[in-house]
Amino acid sequence: MREIANAPLSANAPWIVMKFGGTSVATVARWRNILELAATRRAEGARVLIVVSALSGITDGLKQLCTHTESKRRSEAAAALADRHHALLADMALTMPETLGARLADLADLAETGAGPLGELAWQARVQAHGELMSSALGAAFLSANGLPTAWLDARDCLASVALPNQNERTRLLSAMVEPHYDAELSARLAAQGEVFITQGFIARDEEGRTVLLGRGGSDTSAAYLGALLRAQRVEIWTDVAGMFSANPRQVAGARLLQRLDYEEAQEIASTGAKVLHPRCLSPLREPRVPLLIKDTNRPELEGTAIGPEVREHAPSIKAISARKGITLISMESVGMWQQVGFLADVFDAFKRHGLSVDLIGSAETNVTVSLDPTENLLDSDAIAALAADLARVCRVKVIAPCAAITLVGRGMRSMLHKLSGVLAEFGQLRVHLISQSSNNLNITFVVDEDVVDDMLPRLHELLIGAGALRTDDSLVFGPSWQALYGAGEQVLPPAQWWQGDIPKLLALAQERTPRYVYNVPTIRAQARRLKALSAVDRVHFAVKANTHPGILKALAEEGMAFECVSPGELAAVMAAVPESAPILFTPNFAARRDFVAALKTRATIGIDALHPIEHWGDLFAGRDIMLRVDLGRGLGHHEKVRTGGTGSKFGVPIEHIDRFLTLAHEAGARVIGLHAHLGSGILDAAHWGEVYSQLAALAERIGSISILDIGGGLGVPSHPGETPLDMTALDRVLKSVRQAYPQFQVWMEPGRFLVADAGVLLARVTQEKEKGASVRYLGIDTGMNSLIRPALYDAWHDIANISRFGEAATTMYQVVGPICESGDVLGSDRRLPESKEDDVILIGQAGAYGAVMSSRYNLRDEADEVLLP
Ligand code: LLP
Repeated sequence: MREIANAPLSANAPWIVMKFGGTSVATVARWRNILELAATRRAEGARVLIVVSALSGITDGLKQLCTHTESKRRSEAAAALADRHHALLADMALTMPETLGARLADLADLAETGAGPLGELAWQARVQAHGELMSSALGAAFLSANGLPTAWLDARDCLASVALPNQNERTRLLSAMVEPHYDAELSARLAAQGEVFITQGFIARDEEGRTVLLGRGGSDTSAAYLGALLRAQRVEIWTDVAGMFSANPRQVAGARLLQRLDYEEAQEIASTGAKVLHPRCLSPLREPRVPLLIKDTNRPELEGTAIGPEVREHAPSIKAISARKGITLISMESVGMWQQVGFLADVFDAFKRHGLSVDLIGSAETNVTVSLDPTENLLDSDAIAALAADLARVCRVKVIAPCAAITLVGRGMRSMLHKLSGVLAEFGQLRVHLISQSSNNLNITFVVDEDVVDDMLPRLHELLIGAGALRTDDSLVFGPSWQALYGAGEQVLPPAQWWQGDIPKLLALAQERTPRYVYNVPTIRAQARRLKALSAVDRVHFAVKANTHPGILKALAEEGMAFECVSPGELAAVMAAVPESAPILFTPNFAARRDFVAALKTRATIGIDALHPIEHWGDLFAGRDIMLRVDLGRGLGHHEKVRTGGTGSKFGVPIEHIDRFLTLAHEAGARVIGLHAHLGSGILDAAHWGEVYSQLAALAERIGSISILDIGGGLGVPSHPGETPLDMTALDRVLKSVRQAYPQFQVWMEPGRFLVADAGVLLARVTQEKEKGASVRYLGIDTGMNSLIRPALYDAWHDIANISRFGEAATTMYQVVGPICESGDVLGSDRRLPESKEDDVILIGQAGAYGAVMSSRYNLRDEADEVLLP
């Protein structure tokens, strides 16, 4: 036996309520865990109240016992249940404690005599209460015997149920409610008695002193009631997972642990699908503002989910996406009676008569559609048919099932709608039966056919992260992914950024001068090697528009890259930096005749993306091999402004003009040897290049003279933490499979961003700070959209870090802004950083692509210089 020595507690030491469920109390090993955890809380200076469920399986056994009509069968059942407790007692090496003995004897009596004068329901409640009565008695003995003196407390002495007008005898006894009010007397009485207590979940007493049960999720609810009654410092729910996640981890392995939620959000997530917490247990805690913590019994070191009052300083973010299946929709069309008075009243009256509770409502002038949730209703086909028959008297009825409700949850949903276009587009491709936006501004729900949900959820989760709507960058709120915490095999860790290992060097560079771009050449080389490894690709061109630093061009030439240019300036930069042997491609858009004249003097292969040059300047191309850029009719990419296909975009020759182009080329004496397409920038789906490749190949077969297919660039790099990177193995596989079908063509690519984005950072220094309103804090730095225009132009997300305080806790929410006289001069909104001071060095990540090359001298601010780290 271990002695736990602690300083005595003062009379007003805070309470911590800890709840453990059925599996957590079923073995000695698990009880050792409880001992450890409770002892730690006590050692922290708190009074501890442990709330337990029945050993796993016991409640079901007790319910079973209640169904037997013969006394003998009931007694046998009671004896079997007693044996489970004897066995655990033996494992604990304990002799029978008096409290447990009394409970076992009581159960044997109840079983033998049956309901009798108690009445059936009251007897059932008494019998079923024994699961918790016995487990808690066992626990008190074990904890006390192992150095933590623990008093057994009868929950029925603390929790009194209230009779509600809509309850009948059954719900009053088997699904009772408690209205817990702070009970200073109870707290004082217990404080006088001891330091650590154990009591039962799930049970209470009614006004007549009878034992009542709290229904589904009862033990969580008991813990909440007791937490409220004692005004506990917190309630801890110990379970098998670390807490609530941003999606159901069984459907979305990348779902993130939600480390902080307010009561309303947590309630919303619990009621729209998450099983980890019963929604009923939050409301008792809200008013007394007692926080609730969900923790993993097996991994107590994990942070868990902390639920408490609203945290003001938060980026508006979607917190979770949840799905409920088995939803039935009832669509009711009023027959020709537009806005008829009383129509809704008639309709809802029918639902009431059939005892069906309505969840979502959508209405139009002549139609009302509502959803019925299976967790709130007993939805068998008879019940629905009876309702439909009844409704048919006042309207035309259509039943739509099975459906699923997909809900996005987050405080301030309306302020995020503009970020949801990608998500809405996804729903746009499906039959959406109903959209409902909650009046509390906490959720938006889409009702779709049930069978699409499983495929859709992981995709939606990813889209929400990519759109910056699910702010996984906020590490105070979003913890690790389920996969990282519990996934089997390889751990999916976010790739470490090179700059995190180079802080002193970066600080020294910033000391010399800011603003300043710094590029890490090994990162660029590594990316080049990943591209070279694509076995189906014959030639990779670096799209130099992403970064024209001569040192980078030189390094990429050494890695065997070719170069793609779009202007005489880029051609000159490349030729000055790389050896003669490096191939060059010139693929301009709306270039002047003189640009082609200049390019034709170089070794570049020329690409044309319009009829005009070949029609009007055909003489230039006589005897030349040229490439033709086609518009495949659609664009893709991270933002509308970087999608380069379709009639809305100025790039490429539309498919219907290809024949004309070929004729003109033939007349000019030029040979069209290659087809080229580039649909946009920042694409993360490997399948895309397979589609472009096969489309071009099919066109090329028809044309005949083609030997090269340039399938473009656009290879994306994730910018938001948690976004899934482009799968290079899948890309290799996709390209190889198309190549098998069309082995006659050479394949070229021309990525820009992929090669250089992660290699570059922009360093700047804090100039000023400013507060506005209660919680808006601006952090000014010495450069802005003049150096990096991507956030202003595309809402692009760049990681921001205060490297003068690297490793310090990011506690303050900032709007990071530059010195340019434009409201759009914001480099990052709602960024959590350490409390920052003037002259601190701020690093803006992923600035190697389209950073310096797109900078300007707007406001006549000096441009950032560029430094290479070899
Ligand atoms: N090929 C052509 C014909 C292009 O127009 C582009 C980019 C690329 C290749 C290279 O695309 P990448 O692999 O880098 O995605 N400024 C925007 C990107 C615009 C890209 C314009 N064209 C941004 O910062 O996101």
